[in-house]
Amino acid sequence: MFQIFTRQEIAPKTVHLKIEAPLVARKVQPGQFVIVRVDEKGERIPLSICGFDREAGTLELIVQAVGRTSHEIYDLQAGDSFLDVVGPLGVPTHAEKFGTCVLIGGGYGSGAILPMGRKLKELDNKVYGIVGARTKELLIFADRLQAALDRLFITTNDGSAGMQGLVTDALKAILDDEPVHYVVAVGPVPMMRAVSDMTKPLGIPTMVSLNTLMVDGTGMCGACRVTVGGETRFSCIHGPEFSGHDVDYDELVARQRMYAEKERAALEEYLKQKEQSLCQA
Ligand SMILES: Cc1cc2nc3c(=O)[nH]c(=O)nc-3n(C[C@H](O)[C@H](O)[C@H](O)COP(=O)(O)OP(=O)(O)OC[C@H]3O[C@@H](n4cnc5c(N)ncnc54)[C@H](O)[C@@H]3O)c2cc1C
Ligand code: FES
Repeated sequence: MFQIFTRQEIAPKTVHLKIEAPLVARKVQPGQFVIVRVDEKGERIPLSICGFDREAGTLELIVQAVGRTSHEIYDLQAGDSFLDVVGPLGVPTHAEKFGTCVLIGGGYGSGAILPMGRKLKELDNKVYGIVGARTKELLIFADRLQAALDRLFITTNDGSAGMQGLVTDALKAILDDEPVHYVVAVGPVPMMRAVSDMTKPLGIPTMVSLNTLMVDGTGMCGACRVTVGGETRFSCIHGPEFSGHDVDYDELVARQRMYAEKERAALEEYLKQKEQSLCQA
């Protein structure tokens, strides 16, 4: 069992968890993820590692409640446990001395870019961050990114914090101002696609972390299949980071929606069960 040591609600329907997972913490590298399961009947879902402490044997995760399993995790409290935490999975983020790097996060991606930013800083890069959200309350990890990176740009759709607009508006402002040598984007697919569309004509290498459906996480089931540069790749073992300029985004989106009806029904059932058990209590 993998105990939850701390649980903090950092945005609506979004929790930051610090969990016990000493073997994963010992080996994990920035860019990797775990697959967790709440209990023996539970679904396995992938979560990025947004922090780790090798000595304490802990991992930090951010979970956004979008469907049944992420709601089940959201409802866990400090002291509760995960049945399984499998990892570290995936290829670590590629890091070298690039020059000026821009890391862009949306949603849980704002947490995932923190360890990458620290690694790129260690290698003497200038590292800018951009985090975006619809509104100020939905911003994630802005304080921690501000402390870790050379500069953080914040964008909100409604202008309630930082620059009004999208992360691509902040990226454009940086690109207009100085040369950029490397870009990483982690977040919703439309955001990663828009970032890649902006950097492709400029020839700036751009990595995106693909949030495909996953089941086993070992390259056996094929659930996480994506097409990159015309080739079939498995996001769990060849990724999750790929060159954003080469991803077939239309196929990615279509595959993400494959089980939308079943996912909606599963969430409704869970919320109904939860309401019934609250009424009985
Ligand atoms: C490598 C990787 C790392 C990830 N890291 C994190 C993380 O750190 N924190 C986090 O909250 N989530 C993360 N995700 C996404 C997370 O795994 C999914 O949100 C989760 O599997 C949804 O399960 P569910 O049962 O709650 O929802 P489901 O019932 O499976 O889905 C409900 C709805 O959520 C949306 N959705 C489903 N799957 C995904 C997906 N993979 N990506 C985006 N939207 C989806 C769809 O609109 C879907 O209809 C990551 C995914 C991958 C592949
Ligand atoms: S999750 Fe099964 S092959 Fe990647």
